[in-house]
Amino acid sequence: MNLLVLPKVELHLHLEGCISPAEARMLADRRPAGQGIGPSDLAACYRHRSLKEFLVHFGRLVDLLANPSDLAWLFARVRGRLRRQGVVYAELRVSPSVWERHGLPTEETLDALLDAARAGVPRCSFIIDGVRQWDRRSLIRDFELALGRRGRGVVAFGLGGDEAAAPSSLFQELAQEARKHSFPIIPHAGEGLGADEVASALDVFDPPRIGHGIRAAESPALLKELARRGTHLEVCPTSNRRTGAVPRGKRHPLAQLWAAGVSLSLGTDDPALFRTTLSRELQWASRRMGWGPQDLARSQELAARASLLPPAERESLERFVSAGWSAGALPGEGGGPTIRSRGDGACWTRV
Ligand code: ADE
Ligand code: ZN
Repeated sequence: MNLLVLPKVELHLHLEGCISPAEARMLADRRPAGQGIGPSDLAACYRHRSLKEFLVHFGRLVDLLANPSDLAWLFARVRGRLRRQGVVYAELRVSPSVWERHGLPTEETLDALLDAARAGVPRCSFIIDGVRQWDRRSLIRDFELALGRRGRGVVAFGLGGDEAAAPSSLFQELAQEARKHSFPIIPHAGEGLGADEVASALDVFDPPRIGHGIRAAESPALLKELARRGTHLEVCPTSNRRTGAVPRGKRHPLAQLWAAGVSLSLGTDDPALFRTTLSRELQWASRRMGWGPQDLARSQELAARASLLPPAERESLERFVSAGWSAGALPGEGGGPTIRSRGDGACWTRV
């Protein structure tokens, strides 16, 4: 099966985590004389021993972005990579508080990004990710930035950063505010902390999706609850290895989550920093977790269903993904007919 030609949906992807080593070099070389960064300092940003260390590297790479058009430039390159991977729809997380700490103006940068994303392939939406362990003022500002741009490409508010330093129970008021506006919050949970934290995120936010959520596998009762609610988990296997969320020598819990009937799909999280792509994640599931074409297709259909597009577009995407995978998985067809996406706004079509 040629995964590249099959239509894919990616729901867990941080734009800033897509700065490749070559792009980091280009950005570093544009800095004024005296503010250069040596090759070994840049290379160090791509090796992490923990989630905390990874988050420091993430900030160092954001520091290379000098103005709003750098982020729009990065987005155009990332969109091209997604297109070449056969991704037909993506929801990208961005972190204005991190931009601000590194000298980028939040509103102007976000608006430049939304403008750059308005037309083009694949269709992309944005989740504004607040940094949970930083100050409340920035978090509320990020939430308002997101809410104010709803319908202009922003589909949800997220909570990223250091889960252990600021668990979900601290965000009751934020959850209440979001509920008042029927605006979804999609937290990272069950990455740095265990099943109790996933349960707490469910209680506090009642989220349609959870970033990671993998440690729910520690509790059979919680798995049942996730399946009952239909909460979709955005599972990022390579990220989990590289941050130590799944320690070396321990089997990744994907198979347990899947066997329990939890809705889930695979994501790359920060593909450049973790040296992966969506196709590689799918290949890993196929080679290491025993997923057959039907499992791959099913999880992609679930991703389309869990997307935060308006209902008519979401249904169009679901139909497109489903048709693509059933055609591509036809036996004896040498991988099936090539299906290219045209997510040019309202619908996806076979061309
Ligand atoms: N920000 C970017 N990637 C993240 C991750 N895996 N966990 C928490 N915050 C993040
Ligand atoms: Zn993430």
